[in-house]
Amino acid sequence: MNPQILTILALLIGALVGAALGWLAGSRPAADLRARFDARDAEARELDGRFRQAIVELAGASERAARADGLADELVHARAEYGQKLEAVQREQAALVAQMQAGHAEQIDVVRREREALRAELATLRANAENFDEQKRLLIAAREEMLTLQEILAPTNVVLISDEVYEHMVYDGQQHQSAARFPGLVERAFVVSSFGKTYHVTGWKVGYVAAPAALTQEFRKVHQFNVFTVNTPVQYGLAAYMAHQDAYLNLPDFYQEKRDLFRAGLKGSKFRLLPCEGTYFQCVDTSQINDLKEADFCKWLTSEIGVAAIPLSAFYGAGFDQQVVRFCFAKKTDTLRLALEKLQRL
Ligand SMILES: Cc1ncc(COP(=O)(O)O)c(C=O)c1O
Repeated sequence: MNPQILTILALLIGALVGAALGWLAGSRPAADLRARFDARDAEARELDGRFRQAIVELAGASERAARADGLADELVHARAEYGQKLEAVQREQAALVAQMQAGHAEQIDVVRREREALRAELATLRANAENFDEQKRLLIAAREEMLTLQEILAPTNVVLISDEVYEHMVYDGQQHQSAARFPGLVERAFVVSSFGKTYHVTGWKVGYVAAPAALTQEFRKVHQFNVFTVNTPVQYGLAAYMAHQDAYLNLPDFYQEKRDLFRAGLKGSKFRLLPCEGTYFQCVDTSQINDLKEADFCKWLTSEIGVAAIPLSAFYGAGFDQQVVRFCFAKKTDTLRLALEKLQRL
C-alpha cells in the first residue's frame, strides 16, 4: 500500500484511540466529550472520503499513465511503421523512376526504329522518284533510239530481229515502241512474239514471227527443217483464246497490279528497285544485303530463303556482274505476298 495512505490510517486510528481513552477516563463532561467525538468522527469520515477519493484519483492517474504508456508504444510503433512505409514509398518511387527511364529508353528505341524505317522509306521513295524520271527519260529515249537505229541501218542491208515478246506488258499508259512502227525498220525486221507471254502459257513454247514476205520466205525454210510444225491441239486452243481480245488488252492492267503490289512490298527493304516498265520481271540491286555475286546470291536466296531469282549475269558474258537479279511477279497474289514476307526480313 502507498506509504501516504498508511500514515493517514495510523493518524486516524491514533486519534480514535485517544478520544476513546479520554472519554473512558471521564475527565470532561459527557456532552462535551460527545461533541468532540462527533467532530473527530466527522473529521475521520472526511479523511476517509478524501482517502477514497485519493485512491480513485490515483487509480485514474495510473490508468491514464498506463494509457499514456500505451499511446507512447503506439507512437513508437506508428513511427516505426511510418519509417517503413516511407522507405517502401521511396523504394516504389525509385522503381517508378527506373521504370519511367526504361520506358523512355524503349520509347526512344521505338521512335528511332520508326525514324529509320521512315528514312529507308524516304530513300526508296527518292530512288523510285529518280527511277521514275529515269523511266520517262528511257521511254522517250526508246523512241529516239528506234529512230536512231532506223537512221543507222538505212544505208545497210542489216536484217533486224526484234524480240517483242513483252509487247503487251507496258505500264503507266505508255506505248510499246515496236519495230513495226518505223517504216525504215519494219521493211527489214523479223518481229518476234510469244503466245506463251501474251496468253499465260509460257510452257507451251509457241510464238510467231511477222516479217516482210521476202524475209518470211527464207525464215519458213528454216522453220520447216527446224520446228517443222506446232502440235494441232495447242494451235486450236490458242486460236480460240485469241478470239477474246480482252485477254491481251487487259494484260497491262493485270500485270501492273502485280508489279505495283510487288514493288510496294519491297519498299523499305534492302533491295534497291530498278525501273520496271516493260516486263513482268522486277530487277533489284542486292548490294545492300550482302557481297555475293549474282549467281551465288540467287542460289543462296533460293535454297536458304525460299524465293527464286535469276542472275542478270546469265545474259552477259566474261563474268560481268552488277549485283542485280530479277524476280518474276507473274504469280498469284498469295505467292507474291509470301515471297515479300521473306524478302522484307532480309
Ligand atoms: C526476251 C525473251 N524472248 C523470248 C522468250 C521466249 O518466250 P517463250 O518461251 O514464251 O517462247 C523469253 C522467255 O523468257 C524472253 O524473255
